Amino acid sequence: MVINMGWYNKDVVNILDFSREDIELLFSKADEMRAQLKDKSVKKTLSNKIIGIAFFEPSTRTRMSFETAAKRLGADTVGFTGEEGTSVAKGETFADTIKMIDSYVDAIVLRHKFEGAALFASGIAQNPVINGGDGKSHHPTQAMLDLYTTKTLFGEIDGLTFALIGDLKYSRTVSSLIYGLSMFKPKEIILISPQQLKLREEIKLFAVDHGLKIREEENIEAISEADIIYVTRIQKERFPDLQEYEKVKGSYKINKKILETHAKKTAKVLHPLPRVDELSPDVDNTNYQAYFLQASLGVPLRMALLSLVLGGD
Ligand code: CP
Repeated sequence: MVINMGWYNKDVVNILDFSREDIELLFSKADEMRAQLKDKSVKKTLSNKIIGIAFFEPSTRTRMSFETAAKRLGADTVGFTGEEGTSVAKGETFADTIKMIDSYVDAIVLRHKFEGAALFASGIAQNPVINGGDGKSHHPTQAMLDLYTTKTLFGEIDGLTFALIGDLKYSRTVSSLIYGLSMFKPKEIILISPQQLKLREEIKLFAVDHGLKIREEENIEAISEADIIYVTRIQKERFPDLQEYEKVKGSYKINKKILETHAKKTAKVLHPLPRVDELSPDVDNTNYQAYFLQASLGVPLRMALLSLVLGGD
């Protein structure tokens, strides 16, 4: 067993709980996992572990890539998506639910609609809690994946220009990505959104305080300098007032024509997915498309993360 003190037995609540060195170690471990997946030589280093998957909100990628990652490494998983089938539906508290899961498993991957749920759970659980998304706050493993995909595509993160497009107000992947980028030296972050979906002031202040160069734009032409074009879905489920959602619904859409007209030929489009109507399927078969690679890298990245947190070889 190889133990890394930056990761071993740690909660993964916020990407800022880790250093650039920790993140770079994760990336090199993910490269190893990727190579092992390719030549079918993955070692079952977590064969004595059980991972609890507690998803109080829907998910396809985060849940399934964590489960796949765990199983590839020989671990087992137990869990649920949605609280209907759990005793929460009978009135059990979140705290008691976490205590129970913690007594059964070796680590908990948690998704919840409430901001701070993962931090709260990490204060209750003895075992590591991995945040699979809490409200509009954090999605640390998605940001690690976004940065890893960028590094895989460009060989580096420093010096690149990122255009973040869409719902910058409610998207937890955007806030976590900005936190993650603060550990690197991107050239510029261009924030492109309708007025109503601008980045929250506290994240903007964080970015400026941490030396990130940010620029706010409303027109899609602003993608012209970007290396990474990061598109996000409007987070309908986070709007306090659905009438406000109706006002911005469908207000932006990236398609092949826009990319061919305005983007650099070498630019790559990422999207944490799922997409609704903000990213046209006509981008799928272009050289800009990198979101399917991004989603698939979720498995080696999360294998690396589970391995580091649980002390796999
Ligand atoms: N990117 C992401 O979090 O996707 P899921 O909601 O499908 O997990």
